[in-house]
Amino acid sequence: MNRILITNAEIVNEQNIFSGDVLIRRGRIHAIGGDLGSQPHDQVIDAAGKRLMPGLIDDQVHFREPGYTHKGDIGSESRAAVAGGITSFMEMPNTQPTTTDHDALAAKRAIAARTAYANYAFYLGATNTNIDAVKSLDPQITCGVKVFMGASTGDMLVDDPRTLEKIFAEAPILVATHCEDTPTILANEARFRAQYGDDVPMWHHPDIRSREACLTSSSLAVELAKRHGTRLHVLHLTTADEMALFNSDPPDGKKITTEVCAHHLFFNTSDYETHGARIKCNPAIKTEADRQTLLKAIRDGRIDVIATDHAPHTWTEKQRPYFEAPSGLPLVQDALPSLLEHVHRGDLSLPQIVEKTSHAPARLFNIRDRGYIREGYWADLVLVDLDRTHVVENKNVICRCGWSPFEGYSFRSTVEMTMVNGRIVYQNGQVVDSPQGLPLEFER
Ligand code: DOR
Repeated sequence: MNRILITNAEIVNEQNIFSGDVLIRRGRIHAIGGDLGSQPHDQVIDAAGKRLMPGLIDDQVHFREPGYTHKGDIGSESRAAVAGGITSFMEMPNTQPTTTDHDALAAKRAIAARTAYANYAFYLGATNTNIDAVKSLDPQITCGVKVFMGASTGDMLVDDPRTLEKIFAEAPILVATHCEDTPTILANEARFRAQYGDDVPMWHHPDIRSREACLTSSSLAVELAKRHGTRLHVLHLTTADEMALFNSDPPDGKKITTEVCAHHLFFNTSDYETHGARIKCNPAIKTEADRQTLLKAIRDGRIDVIATDHAPHTWTEKQRPYFEAPSGLPLVQDALPSLLEHVHRGDLSLPQIVEKTSHAPARLFNIRDRGYIREGYWADLVLVDLDRTHVVENKNVICRCGWSPFEGYSFRSTVEMTMVNGRIVYQNGQVVDSPQGLPLEFER
């Protein structure tokens, strides 16, 4: 049973868009073809006029469990993720306790096995003292090693140069970096505190978390990676300046790859005026010229992956003055509709979005049998209506924090249905299944 036939879809896959049917059996894609109606099935989804894409593989989320579950947990945030078409996620280590040893990783996996609505994997966080845990991690179940080369939410800065050398030389798998130079940021903070006291206007966030801070740190990461031959993935790039560090080689041959996040592609510095701390995040949202350069870098291949950096904080926490308002935004539910706005505006194509949100993460992390609409692959799919407008309203937010940085925006596209491992988990605006996510497997 549970053979689902999706008919008449416009299938977006592997740089093409074509009309066809997809038949799902036992959780996997059984057949892709022109008309599969004659093959046995139990349920039909008529997808006429809609686009069927592989579900998003989000390589950067903060789901807050354990330790900060008043902001969200693996269950609540993955539930929101499937409503946004995200079918797999890779989760960050700045929880409490931090995910910096093998027991903490195992504990998260055990929680996810019970509560995750999407497929999951977890990063091991590097510290100044856990190189042994980094060296002995299991490459088949751990997505990567996360290095906070700049301090952000949580206490996970790795700033000892000898430790950085060791991590870059010895990590057995991909090293994913948060790049912002902390000494530069601290000097900027002191300058602005001297001028404004504690109540620095929010629009100075990109002056404090400055472009120089980003460039200094990402330059160091790239230099270390080149010297040690590290498999480096630089997370959430935000500035035009940093783009010179990266090239447009085909992503499969690259040892150094890059990621940009949905909010950095959508907002710019003019939005601080109206959104304030709602768009305060690290690295900071920068100028319109930076945003345009990031879009260009997606088109020309210098940016390999688009993710969310979903990082929920409560509304109350976000109301605090500059230094106390935490950085980070909830994004998993709205990222895909926000990305599809770039398609409507003519800035990106649908195949480009699918390449950067599904195909590329699957390839760059060597994920087994996911990220493509291919026979034999897991049926992780999202169906979108490009012409069904919806307005983002806080009352519809599924994330525990209950607010969205896009509140009031009218998006021209809507997620209609999400399928994880061949089961419909989200349809008609509702999460309709129980948590059934599986661990991601890495072919390494
Ligand atoms: O804005 C951010 N928030 N950037 C990060 O690097 C961490 C994240 C969080 O965990 O809140």
